[in-house]
Amino acid sequence: MSYLITAGPTREPLDPVRYLSNRSSGKMGYALAAAAHTAGQDVILISGPTSLPAPGGVHLIKVTTAQEMHDAVHYHLPQAKAAIFSAAVADYRPAAAAPQKIKKHGETLTLTLERTPDILGSARASGYSGLLVGFAAETENLLANARGKLQRKGCDLIVANDVSGSETGFDTDENEITLVFANGEVRPLPRASKDALAEIIVGICAQLMVPSQP
Ligand code: PMT
Repeated sequence: MSYLITAGPTREPLDPVRYLSNRSSGKMGYALAAAAHTAGQDVILISGPTSLPAPGGVHLIKVTTAQEMHDAVHYHLPQAKAAIFSAAVADYRPAAAAPQKIKKHGETLTLTLERTPDILGSARASGYSGLLVGFAAETENLLANARGKLQRKGCDLIVANDVSGSETGFDTDENEITLVFANGEVRPLPRASKDALAEIIVGICAQLMVPSQP
């Protein structure tokens, strides 16, 4: 049984040379994968496009789109005892990628977008019963949005990430997070490196998986 971790952005093609994506560097997810490996776990890291080297000892699966990440997650989820979803998956994709490069016509261009699969939201529905950890990247109403995601998606823990600043969150070496547990506990953590926070999150995952004594 392994730890399954998602990381990085997804890219949703618009035409052969353009895509929709976001600023995720993958650093948070790769740090989680490295921390879980250091803690002695088998790790499957399912990553969108990043420039990071694969963490040593980790099974890295590279994907590009949300659909590919969804399919890779569901292929490996039945073998996972813990799943941590730190990827910044696109919520919408172009409804149809143009087969040829889109040419300039007129002053505006309207794109039709459609929802991507909700990978975290589909984990419990697929029958997965291991530890489920989601992230919530928010620029407002951090705790309310994190609690909503925890309940709607059946998570044991949500890592609430205020991404409104420029020194933490996307594409930074440090992060500032609050842990929101299914039992209602809320634990803010001081700002720290993503490596240090990953170690804490992996340690908490191990604690949450210890069976309670009768
Ligand atoms: O990669 P870095 O540069 O190190 O940045 C780290 C980070 C800011 C990306 C990371 O700390 C973080 O906050 N990750 C979650 C980003 C996100 O898109 O959050 P969200 O609130 O939109 O999504 C909620 C949860 O659902 C997340 O666990 C996400 O992985 C998951 N999700 C979202 C959409 C989707 N279609 N499928 C999903 O599984």
